[in-house]
Amino acid sequence: MTSLRIDPPDFVKNRKLIEWVRETAEHCRPDSVHWCDGSQEEYDSLCRQMVESGTFIRLSEEKRPNSFLCRSDPSDVARVEDRTFICSLRRQDAGPTNNWVHPKEMKETLSGLFEGCMAGRTMYVIPFSMGPLGSHISHIGVEITDSPYVVVNMRIMTRMGRKVMDLLGTDRDFVHCLHSVGAPLEPGREDVPWPCNDKKYIVHFPEERSIMSYGSGYGGNALLGKKCFALRIASSMARDEGWLAEHMLILCVESPDGEKTYVAAAFPSACGKTNFAMLIPPDSFEGWKVTTIGDDIAWIKPGDDGRLYAINPEYGFFGVAPGTSDKTNYNAMATLKENCIFTNVALTPDGDVWWEGMTDTSPDSLIDWQGKEWTPDAGRPAAHPNARFTSPASQCPSIDPDWENPAGVPISAFIFGGRRSDVVPLVYQSPNWYFGVYLAATMGSEKTAAAAGKIGEVRRDPFAMLPFCGYHMGDYFNHWLHVGRLLSEPPRIFGVNWFRKDENGKFLWPGFGENMRVLKWVVDRVRGRASAVESPLGWMPKYESMEWGGLDGFTAEEFTKLMTVDREIWKKELLSHEELFEKLYDKLPKEFSHIRELLLSTFWLSPEHWALAPERYTGEHNAD
Ligand code: GTP
Ligand code: SPV
Ligand code: MN
Repeated sequence: MTSLRIDPPDFVKNRKLIEWVRETAEHCRPDSVHWCDGSQEEYDSLCRQMVESGTFIRLSEEKRPNSFLCRSDPSDVARVEDRTFICSLRRQDAGPTNNWVHPKEMKETLSGLFEGCMAGRTMYVIPFSMGPLGSHISHIGVEITDSPYVVVNMRIMTRMGRKVMDLLGTDRDFVHCLHSVGAPLEPGREDVPWPCNDKKYIVHFPEERSIMSYGSGYGGNALLGKKCFALRIASSMARDEGWLAEHMLILCVESPDGEKTYVAAAFPSACGKTNFAMLIPPDSFEGWKVTTIGDDIAWIKPGDDGRLYAINPEYGFFGVAPGTSDKTNYNAMATLKENCIFTNVALTPDGDVWWEGMTDTSPDSLIDWQGKEWTPDAGRPAAHPNARFTSPASQCPSIDPDWENPAGVPISAFIFGGRRSDVVPLVYQSPNWYFGVYLAATMGSEKTAAAAGKIGEVRRDPFAMLPFCGYHMGDYFNHWLHVGRLLSEPPRIFGVNWFRKDENGKFLWPGFGENMRVLKWVVDRVRGRASAVESPLGWMPKYESMEWGGLDGFTAEEFTKLMTVDREIWKKELLSHEELFEKLYDKLPKEFSHIRELLLSTFWLSPEHWALAPERYTGEHNAD
């Protein structure tokens, strides 16, 4: 058998890369190798090719210029957490919250699967940078894939192509990311629009800093720069090197007199990061502005001045489509005007896209995400609940002028929030860094459609990182405590919950743009301007220390409902933390046991202390 010619073009000089591509090509046996230069011509030609092959549908040039619809296989629509592995050399380094297999054993399995897996396909080599080119916080990876869908998505989601290859030079190291949809094509066999394999493996080797992903073409399973590199591998690098890789949005709040405060917030998947990052303040907030640095991932490093500096390692948004509308997220809708890829949304008769929540009433007829005729009485959603858009961040009207600043932006507050229909109040502030880390570590959230599995069940999702931490969660908590101790000005830490519901299942809080009211209180607290009441959970806003103008009819009574913490229910919540702690027993920070004891002791405070009645939010006492 003659071995395949890999023909590296002039702009490829990295010796390790050329050798790796040669080995991989020999093993996976693609028909040809394509070295991506990241050019517009390359992007256009791959899109054209996918239109011809039936993978892409070109949308109306009038309604949605230069944009495409893609329908995945119905079996490949979300991340697969039970098929995701952290293969560290020692089991205890992956910890009890990750799936683990010894790297040697896993490599044998994968070697078998990857052998000949690219037959009949082109193998693409994608050099990419996570973070602005040349930033000291950025890192480089190369993804090898047999999916042209991955190539075009990676061009939107990362800085990709020739310039990155230049940075790689002849010898620079990079994170090896190998991906295959796992669907070799026998000679003469016709391809399907969305090739994939029922057998799926999303595998990370933290010591080697490499990734191998097999069988899925979708999102975080396949765009390896995102969750696999920028969170799982990067979190492990960050622990070794003294920084943080987090599932966080980054935004800037600018006050009417031009004061800028940067905030990072961690909410689990499909719990509102994109919405919060692009928030438009209500009309009554005259002169206040929110701008977007990132919507999903933050890389955060201590600076010489004792503060934390954050960059968004990504270049685009891979956002949840359903629920996105001009009303809920105007900036996202504007970002989606052109040059986008839509996956698993519905198609309108005039060649545009639609999803649940985009408009108040649905169009009369659609083609749904599975390519079937759809009418409003169909009894099933037209778009998949985890349908997503891929769009260039630079197109976002609220993008911050410093979003590509290689030095990052200084973070003043961290916000943590899950999706909880009860128990957790709208907002509260942790008394200090240690309590804040505890708050984030014990965050609970109801499961969403972003990952395969049962929806709605509450699970502990520490730091919104449960599916994304590349090492032992107990070590991760200790790392956070450690980083905080080094800072002269640690960010203040807050908890929020936009999702509390009443007895009839209706949201108690209007959310979206109205979240500005909470955000302003956070900023005012950081700046020492807002008062708060002490509660068993930490500091809480008084009704009067939040801005209510323009939100007609939102009374102190309703606010109380949102803020009330029932002593007995909170006790249950606190006791349930034990379940996570017991799992992480041998590596749990000693601070956590003390904090838990202190929190438990508050149950012996007087009932008045627990009855967070409106009177407590007004008047003289407890001003901070
Ligand atoms: P990933 O991309 O999966 O990490 O998720 P994300 O956190 O960026 O989620 P996103 O902002 O896309 O939110 C997804 C869902 O949350 C959508 O259905 C939104 O309508 C809903 N959502 C966002 N913000 C709010 C809010 O303030 N209130 C309510 N009730 N729903 C919200
Ligand atoms: C998430 O699930 O948190 C995402 C989408 O941001 S994916 O990239 O598919 O993981
Ligand atoms: Mn995410």
